[in-house]
Amino acid sequence: MNKLEFIDKELDRRREKHQFRKLKSITPLSATDVSINGQRIINFSSNDYLGLSKHPLLKERSIEFANRYGTGSTASRLICGSFDCFDQVEEKLAALKGTEASLILNSGFQANTSVIATLLDPDAIVFSDELNHSSIIQGVVLSRARKVIYPHNDLAQLRKRLEQTRGDSARKLIVTESVFSMDGDRSDIDSLIALAKEHDALLMVDEAHATGVLGKNGMGMTADKDVDIVLGTFGKALGAFGAYICCSEKMRDYLINCCPGFIYSTALPPSIVGSIDAALDLAPQMESARQHLQSTAEYFRQKLRLLGYDTGASSTQIVPIIVGDEQQTLTLAEKLQESGFLATAIRPPTVPEGTSRIRVALSSEHDRSQVDGLLSVFEEYKGSSPHVT
Ligand SMILES: Cc1ncc(COP(=O)(O)O)c(C=O)c1O
Repeated sequence: MNKLEFIDKELDRRREKHQFRKLKSITPLSATDVSINGQRIINFSSNDYLGLSKHPLLKERSIEFANRYGTGSTASRLICGSFDCFDQVEEKLAALKGTEASLILNSGFQANTSVIATLLDPDAIVFSDELNHSSIIQGVVLSRARKVIYPHNDLAQLRKRLEQTRGDSARKLIVTESVFSMDGDRSDIDSLIALAKEHDALLMVDEAHATGVLGKNGMGMTADKDVDIVLGTFGKALGAFGAYICCSEKMRDYLINCCPGFIYSTALPPSIVGSIDAALDLAPQMESARQHLQSTAEYFRQKLRLLGYDTGASSTQIVPIIVGDEQQTLTLAEKLQESGFLATAIRPPTVPEGTSRIRVALSSEHDRSQVDGLLSVFEEYKGSSPHVT
């Protein structure tokens, strides 16, 4: 009996299915360029949608907060006192999002797993979009609640499933993303709010890929809307790290008292809180960057469609090029990299079987010539592999 046999088996299975993943070492050179093995490559796979991770103000404020508060937060905020810089940032964020309160958590993954499990119990019922992110799925599993997975963005089905539980006095939660991470399409927030109200269900919306990019002041699709729990991340368009919940004061108190991911984890380092603080000063003013980003995405999608590629229902800065077959997707990703473009192949289990894709994530820092360069590789590939849909 070899106690590690299960690892060999699983890794072999993944190799056979072309699903074995390896880390690729890169060195960032600028907001759009990286170096891989000495080759300069334009990065079309990062979530740094506004290029803020390289912004001087984020770096400066990060250093300023580290100098003022030290490099670590030294404990959970409930244990050793909560550094006042957290209050400052949480107040700023709540004002921008139009909510009573906000609470910083350490990562989007941690926030989804922990907050969802804190909102539910085994008697509750959770209604979750079938394309929700893995961290939401983990939260649902951890909660042990009864789960209803509704077809992607199919609110008629969601309504039907809610109707079926109408007489059930169980607590209900609807959970969705606002911009879906692998498809770049959007959910219908207003209809979800109405459905949640009608069925007295809580509504939780993950704004990881909308924060900084969409909505009033770039504050997401739920800004100023009546959503019970909004989750967002600072590690994508806001160029920093960590996550937030925007909610009522009462919900914030509940999470501070009951959410293990908040209570039992050392708070984010002050340097990160500094970069978040700066990003929240900058992002609301970046309307022209947001417009440039959306018009680049529209241009990119139109050109791809003319070439015959399937970009799904994307309507944002995330553009999937759905190839289907895993090996073909990997070959296309390799060709892109050889030509100087980093655009990652996304395969099952991250996306459903048969929908392997190149996920292009655009940034407001990409210019037209970089996008045209990327398009020329897709054009060339299409010429050599006309069967790719
Ligand atoms: C929709 C969604 N939610 C949550 C997360 C997790 O966020 P974080 O990277 O801060 O852990 C991600 C990350 O990719 C995501 O795409």
